[in-house]
Amino acid sequence: MIYMDNAATTICKPDVVKRAVLEALDTFGNAGRGTSEAALHAARGIYAAREELARFFHAEQASCIAFTANSTESLNIALKGLFCPGDHVITTVMEHNSVLRPLYECEENGVELTILGCDEKGNISPAEMENAVRENTRAIVCTHASNLTGNMIDIEAVGKIARKNGILLVVDASQSAGVYPIDVQKTGISVLCFTGHKSLMGPQGTGGMYVKPGLHIRPLLSGGSGVDTYNRHHPAQMPTALEAGTLNGHGIAGLAAAVAWIEEKGIDALRERELALMRQFYEGVVRIPEVKVYGDFTVRKRCPIVSLNIGEYDSSEVSDELNMTYGIVTRPGAHCAPLMHRALGTVEQGAVRFSFSHYNTEEEVAFAVNAVKELAEQGE
Ligand code: ALA
Repeated sequence: MIYMDNAATTICKPDVVKRAVLEALDTFGNAGRGTSEAALHAARGIYAAREELARFFHAEQASCIAFTANSTESLNIALKGLFCPGDHVITTVMEHNSVLRPLYECEENGVELTILGCDEKGNISPAEMENAVRENTRAIVCTHASNLTGNMIDIEAVGKIARKNGILLVVDASQSAGVYPIDVQKTGISVLCFTGHKSLMGPQGTGGMYVKPGLHIRPLLSGGSGVDTYNRHHPAQMPTALEAGTLNGHGIAGLAAAVAWIEEKGIDALRERELALMRQFYEGVVRIPEVKVYGDFTVRKRCPIVSLNIGEYDSSEVSDELNMTYGIVTRPGAHCAPLMHRALGTVEQGAVRFSFSHYNTEEEVAFAVNAVKELAEQGE
């Protein structure tokens, strides 16, 4: 198998991640529940993971990081817990359904929504975001990188707009966390939502959110916390405020090991390798006459994704053929990104997405380029 669906999930994880999960499976009690050595060991492990993630994203302190199952859960907590009827929220067509669907629910409950469009390459203009700010604007909610095109939003520029206008900035870092360094304080991010299983190289079922100190988010869940049992309400202090029930301690141990591994290898070196593979693939396919590539490749700062179509072929058929004949794994269809597909005119056809990891090789990329070429020639 040649795996090129790393934007969906990375399946080749560092050995240290596997070892950390196994060690936790053998030794973790329930963190925060009791004082046995096993419970304390789990609590220490989870705290160490919080510290690791806080360091990684330049958070003020470890308690700014709450663990969740994935970006979708983090985004649901943030979006449903921050906004009230009458608030205005600005978002973009680049968003995944994990942003759009919770926002549509907010809209049904009286939140006003502005969804900014993009140019023909799929880029969003931060200046247009600023023009969309109104008196009742509470937040800008945007992805850092499109899961369809790999294009990025300049969150540093958006952070300046948010700061200047005294509004919140909620960022979906599903595709960018582990690819680009993110400094939440410098950027002025109020809430950063991340998943563990993509470029952070952790296990599925791990993720989390950074919440700026002092920002109150109404919890989505309440329940067991291990502390303050006789209080009828869930504890209000972070991170417990946003974590109810037993955490995925085993997965979190793996996530911490994964992030430490990224720091050891160097996030810049890992990304540069991925971008070089992406470039090699892009340069190879873009010159095939029947192939249409989506997204902006004139900029250096992007995520290692290339989405394309061959002639009028349905993207699912092409992806199936790549899998069955060549053993290349891609993701076709709509990628849970309805507005981006609409903007690119690919609602009917979908697109075939190739997304690269530093574990891919130049030989695999050359093979994939050749596969696309052969399929394109078959259609002539
Ligand atoms: N959000 C993931 C993707 O883009 C699953 O494929």
